[in-house]
Amino acid sequence: MNILIIGSGGREHTLAWKISQSALCNQLYVAPGNAGTAGMAHNLPLDPLDFEGIKKQVIEKKIELVVVGPEAPLVAGIRDFFEADEELQHIHLIGPGKEGAQLEGSKDFSKAFMVRHKIPTARAKTFTKETLEEGLNYLEEIPTPVVLKADGLAAGKGVLICQQTDEAKDALQEMLMQEKFGEAGKKVLIEEYLDGTELSVFVLTDGKDYLILPEAKDYKRIGEKDTGLNTGGMGAVSPVHIADKDFMQMVEDRVVKRTITGLQQEGIPFMGFLFIGLMKVKGEPFVIEYNVRMGDPETEVVIPRIENDLVDLFLATSIGKLHEKEIHTLQRAATTVVMVAGGYPEAYEKGHPISGLEETATEDTMVFHAGTTEKDGKLHTNGGRVLAVTGLGDSLKEALEKSYQQVEKINWKNRYYRRDIGQDVIL
Ligand code: AMP
Ligand code: GLY
Repeated sequence: MNILIIGSGGREHTLAWKISQSALCNQLYVAPGNAGTAGMAHNLPLDPLDFEGIKKQVIEKKIELVVVGPEAPLVAGIRDFFEADEELQHIHLIGPGKEGAQLEGSKDFSKAFMVRHKIPTARAKTFTKETLEEGLNYLEEIPTPVVLKADGLAAGKGVLICQQTDEAKDALQEMLMQEKFGEAGKKVLIEEYLDGTELSVFVLTDGKDYLILPEAKDYKRIGEKDTGLNTGGMGAVSPVHIADKDFMQMVEDRVVKRTITGLQQEGIPFMGFLFIGLMKVKGEPFVIEYNVRMGDPETEVVIPRIENDLVDLFLATSIGKLHEKEIHTLQRAATTVVMVAGGYPEAYEKGHPISGLEETATEDTMVFHAGTTEKDGKLHTNGGRVLAVTGLGDSLKEALEKSYQQVEKINWKNRYYRRDIGQDVIL
């Protein structure tokens, strides 16, 4: 069948790499894609939020399965658009509808959902412009550090961890009165700080049954030893040793099952990926956030560890037959190191030629493109996160060695990467 992936990052290149290996895949399209996806699929120059444009291409190219990579089209209702259109209704689509996407699109919604369904999470209260005074008083009463979260989508920037009460009060004022995060920050959650170890669990669900995919840990800060500004993600590893059998059983019982049952009880269909950001505190799991899609760069380590035919799993998801499937995990470790433009996540340059990539093809490494473009037959940087270099090995240590061996061969003006990805979890 013909398949369309929506998105343009390392996540979408990884999905394209995996889907293109499926016997079920005929023509593969990525919209808009990048220079990496162009090597294995047809790129379509479409905005992921241009649903009419997507419709036209889906019909013209006889596409039967659409895989939605990023959250924005899901939160904007791409599934609802497909379901409401007679010409698109029959098309398989991976990703929840607008209602289900609220688990990511509104932190207030997801917090209330977790409370309703007794899913362990940090305690929180929501405040608006109208209740600013109450919010400021609340901050006086609770201990620090404290976490402030903009309710809506803020491209990973809407979470502030404040060490002092005064700092938190200033931040709350800025978010609510000066609309620091615009529409996304009209409601702000004041949340208890959880002191623990973070990890991400990924679930593929048809709304009734689910498969738990390999877990991962990502590295969000720009600087080594987790310092500096937050980024989209500077690297990731899988497996994560703190996700042992007992812990994962708790995650399944207290988080995954309760989430799926909760969605069912509330009549919210959900066909797609659920990404659960967790904190392990004193041995127990607490949810810090839900995302309704795969993570980036987590995809670059999770997908290479899945042995199944991904298209087969997607079709089972779409027709509600996931109970017939089981996940086969590659018993190897995967690591990815993200190479970024100097200056990222603040101002950075684009358009620098990339060298050294031709030397990097080995059996156990994959270079996934995130922000690249081809100009005059040569590869150029075209984003903040430029490449994600994945290595496979019999241990995380070996996988990391492979990632870094390739990273060191690749160059462009002012390239930057963290040298400490995975160092904290190598046993
Ligand atoms: P989020 O956008 O919800 O993933 O939050 C960004 C980051 O902030 C997370 O990856 C955590 O490192 C941190 N964080 C979020 N919520 C909490 C919390 N309640 N306690 C401690 N750290 C948190
Ligand atoms: N790496 C975090 C995310 O995709 O949201």
